[in-house]
Amino acid sequence: MKLVVAIVRPEKLTDVLEALFRAEVRGLTISRVQGHGGETERVTTYRGSTVKMELSEKVRLEIGVSDHFVEPTVGAILTAAQTGEVGDGKIFVLPVERVYRIRTAERDEAAVTPVG
Ligand SMILES: Nc1ncnc2c1ncn2[C@@H]1O[C@H](COP(=O)(O)OP(=O)(O)OP(=O)(O)O)[C@@H](O)[C@H]1O
Ligand SMILES: [Mg+2]
Repeated sequence: MKLVVAIVRPEKLTDVLEALFRAEVRGLTISRVQGHGGETERVTTYRGSTVKMELSEKVRLEIGVSDHFVEPTVGAILTAAQTGEVGDGKIFVLPVERVYRIRTAERDEAAVTPVG
């Protein structure tokens, strides 16, 4: 299994969710986050010290998938989240050691396969 972590523009979230639904991706977690991706620097104050760090609002998606789902998941996000301008975001694919579905105590592949 893998955990696909994608940081995308908030205004692209609806498109990304639609593309993921079309790719038959079902379980996911979304958070609103702030990130830095090397944008033009500006002086801000953080805990009393002056730092140069532009932060932008982004959306973080976490999607646990079995290995054969990685490419369709990544492909859906790449297509739906791209504007071609700097700041489109990042996709990370992380190895996952175990997954449990709490309701049934199923694990691994069985636990990431959508039910119903
Ligand atoms: N190396 C990184 N590690 C973790 N998060 C990152 C990393 N790079 C970018 N991000 C996240 O992705 C968001 C968007 O980054 P961004 O799209 O600017 O990446 P980039 O590599 O600089 O690409 P671009 O050249 O298009 O700007 C950031 O605000 C941050 O939340
Ligand atoms: Mg950047």
